[in-house]
Amino acid sequence: MTAPLYPLLRERLVPFGQEHVLRWWWELEDAQRSELARQIEAVDLAQVHRLFHEHAHAGLELPFDWDQLEPPEVVRPADTVEAWEQEQQAWAIGEQALRQGRVAICLVAGGQGSRLGHDAPKGTFPIGPITQRSLFQVHAQKVLALSRRYEVPLRWYIMTSPDNDAATRQFFAEHGYFGLPAEQVEFFVQGTMPAVDKDTGRLLMRSKWQLALSPDGHGGFLRALRRAGILDELQQNDVRWLFYFQVDNPLVKVADPLFLGQHISRGAEVSVKVVRRRHAQEKLGQVVRYRGRYYLVEYTEIPPEWQQRRDPSGNFWLDAGNIAVHIFDVAFLQRVAECDSQLPYHRAVKKVPFINEAGECVEPDSANALKWERFIFDVLPLAQQVLVVETDRAEEFEPLKNACGENSPETVRAALCELYARWLEQAGLRVPRDRSGRVSVPIEISPLVALDASDLRGQVEHLGEICSPLLLEHARDQVSANSTCQDLVR
Ligand code: UTP
Repeated sequence: MTAPLYPLLRERLVPFGQEHVLRWWWELEDAQRSELARQIEAVDLAQVHRLFHEHAHAGLELPFDWDQLEPPEVVRPADTVEAWEQEQQAWAIGEQALRQGRVAICLVAGGQGSRLGHDAPKGTFPIGPITQRSLFQVHAQKVLALSRRYEVPLRWYIMTSPDNDAATRQFFAEHGYFGLPAEQVEFFVQGTMPAVDKDTGRLLMRSKWQLALSPDGHGGFLRALRRAGILDELQQNDVRWLFYFQVDNPLVKVADPLFLGQHISRGAEVSVKVVRRRHAQEKLGQVVRYRGRYYLVEYTEIPPEWQQRRDPSGNFWLDAGNIAVHIFDVAFLQRVAECDSQLPYHRAVKKVPFINEAGECVEPDSANALKWERFIFDVLPLAQQVLVVETDRAEEFEPLKNACGENSPETVRAALCELYARWLEQAGLRVPRDRSGRVSVPIEISPLVALDASDLRGQVEHLGEICSPLLLEHARDQVSANSTCQDLVR
């Protein structure tokens, strides 16, 4: 089977100067040859050639005319009675859509998590301040709690990559899908892109029979959804809205009814949640309006004077920081996925280990490779109607990105403790805080006990003052009648 393959593969590779990937062909075993042939056939060599020779750009043609750039229209949290009433109406609309089974949930978890440096899929990272429950467990329990609340098995789609798919599935299986029926969860695998030498454009190899491939970015979700038949499945099941989120943010309000209701009542095709910036240099992409369309400009692309610019009330002029929480109309996704070549590839210069001509593994000291990824936010300018909703960062956003410093396990656990403490305080409890106002004991509340402050009402009042670590793992009605505070505290 393998003998005639060699000339065929060579014929494919030579026009693009990539025949070096066959260098070790004659010393490979059959299975290794098949693997290499499969990988070569899956790569769009013409596309890689084009991407290497032209500068890959983001959705906005850069440089563009900054003077024509405008801040987006943003729905701010209600601060008047009228706005509050509108929120109540939107909430009811969102809840109805959930109850009627018109909403599905999609988590993207195919990233490599290289900054965190965790030796397993990022979703397996232990993040619970007391229990060390994993990111996956936090998300799964939210999906389960919502399914119970709305009495509907919310479909949950999880995107993995070829590298972490098996480990992710195994983790869910080992943990009994965290209480969800296995058939409610569907995994789908995203595509890959090859890495090339940054100076020559030659494909890098991970081993003698494997190209150096990496996941094609969270924007790969669109193609992967379509290829897995999920978009058709959603339409057949009359699911109209897809709630999208990313694995690293355990504060996310999964399938937030208010956000859904706002999306539905505004007739948006895509909705984006945003937060205000903490400081001018914060690494948050900004939603902007340009010639009537919405775009996301990455922070690296915003010149310092525009990062600093303030409006007359002293707020940053660009102040709609993307937190990667979206709602998509399924019909919109269908439309865009049919011609997803519209989504640009973003180029990144990275350190990629490879084997050299002598077949030795090289761990480069500096960036040696070009990689390309698609970003989901590049669908924004393709939408007729975009809704941008501002939220309070403390309530919804602290992503796990780094091993230490900003957005690290320490800051994420602290943000979770603060969130739970505020919920308890809203229920009338006293929570110990240090001089700078920070909660001084660890607190953790299972999503099965509460998804928000209002869920705690009637469950915690008997606890009085909190003075030691507090874990709420079981809803009050699941705790025996003579239970005390200690039953809830572990
Ligand atoms: P990031 O851009 O933060 O990347 O992903 P990452 O892979 O988690 O971490 P680094 O950059 O290597 O340190 C944001 C979200 O998008 C998902 C990630 O799993 C995370 O939920 N993602 C990213 C994918 O699903 N696929 C990708 O190809 C890239």
